[in-house]
Amino acid sequence: SEVIIAKTADEAGAVVARRIADQIAASPSFVLGVATGSTPLTTYRALADLIRTESIAVDAVRAFALDEYVGLPAGHPEGYASVVAREVVRPLGLDPQLVRVPDGSAEADEASCADYEAAIREAGGVDLQLLGIGSTGHIGFNEPGSAFDSRTRVTELAESTRRDNARFFDSIDDVPTHAATQGIGTILEARQLVLLAFGENKAQAVARAVEGPVTEALPASALQLHPRATIVIDEAAASLLR
Ligand code: F6R
Repeated sequence: SEVIIAKTADEAGAVVARRIADQIAASPSFVLGVATGSTPLTTYRALADLIRTESIAVDAVRAFALDEYVGLPAGHPEGYASVVAREVVRPLGLDPQLVRVPDGSAEADEASCADYEAAIREAGGVDLQLLGIGSTGHIGFNEPGSAFDSRTRVTELAESTRRDNARFFDSIDDVPTHAATQGIGTILEARQLVLLAFGENKAQAVARAVEGPVTEALPASALQLHPRATIVIDEAAASLLR
């Protein structure tokens, strides 16, 4: 994989946003794979600025979220459907009809996950998938042990992931135990992958993802199997690379 080390999260976001904006300008029915969490926010802000200042047409852009918590009340502000609407769809000016997030209702099951896979296929696949990385090495909510050929499914969150994400909720007890997530196999089918990571608490997972063995014990190491994967990190997240 190509590794780009940026000085700051803002600089990293600017680099990735430039790449996405150029691709949308060249290919208006671009399919963007969106990640949620804190890490991609500088990218979305920079991309919103480019779209506005360069008048890039986004009315045909499609987007698919990586994952969604299962069991939050509909419309919960930390549900990824709300987060994607707030951080991606509105600032970028996307058509909400062309944006999908996995079903995280209590009814989420094999059938709803298969529908999601079908929607991605019908859109022609994802052109560029943005990814964050969990301290466990997860991508999407594929925790260690997820098969590299896994597809969209309901999974259980690692206890440490629930602790990491408790900052978005009133208490850890409010963090869902399960999520619907694109599988590693689904993610690997995107034509390009861009993994972002910032801060020293990501350094170990980044080093194992980039330099460690390719193993289902470290889900992000699957990026080594992808022909067009780019890792964009700040100096802190790069600090354990050789
Ligand atoms: C979110 C997702 C997760 C996050 C990861 C890092 O859609 O799929 O894999 O990317 O948990 O989260 P942050 O960016 O909040 O550190």
